[in-house]
Amino acid sequence: MNQPTTPHVPLAAATLERFAREVAKFPAAQKQSAVMACLSIVQQERGWVSRESEDEVAAYLGMAPIAVYEVTTFYNMYNQQPVGKFKINVCTNLPCQLRDGQQALAHICKKLNVAVGGTTADGQFTVQQSECLGACADSPVMLINDREMISFMSNDRIDDLLDTLAQAK
Ligand code: FES
Repeated sequence: MNQPTTPHVPLAAATLERFAREVAKFPAAQKQSAVMACLSIVQQERGWVSRESEDEVAAYLGMAPIAVYEVTTFYNMYNQQPVGKFKINVCTNLPCQLRDGQQALAHICKKLNVAVGGTTADGQFTVQQSECLGACADSPVMLINDREMISFMSNDRIDDLLDTLAQAK
């Protein structure tokens, strides 16, 4: 997906108040420990974390911007570009690979007519490849919107899931 061309809007005062509540949970000299919480707040409010937002979080916490980029690029729960209503992360690490994780990813992409990492034209689904989700015994697995783990995904279960999500309001 291309980066949006809409101008960046600075973080709102209410957002900064939420940041302050997170920072208050740590000793004054360790406010950088709130970086993940602050990035999560940005994502909750905006749906993704832009480079400009990363820079604002860095400035707020007194961190080097590169240290914030390292966090957003390490954890794939942070969206570095806008995503669809449903973000599907399919694990393709070895245990899932051995139980058709790659095939599950291909099936989803084919059914939704979208490339890995892409978003459907209607903005409903983003499909991403994921590192281990910590549920190897249930492979192949996938994660919906960073929250809901789906296990033992056969093509039939995937089809049912996508149909259910497509009908969700
Ligand atoms: S390898 Fe897929 S959950 Fe661990």
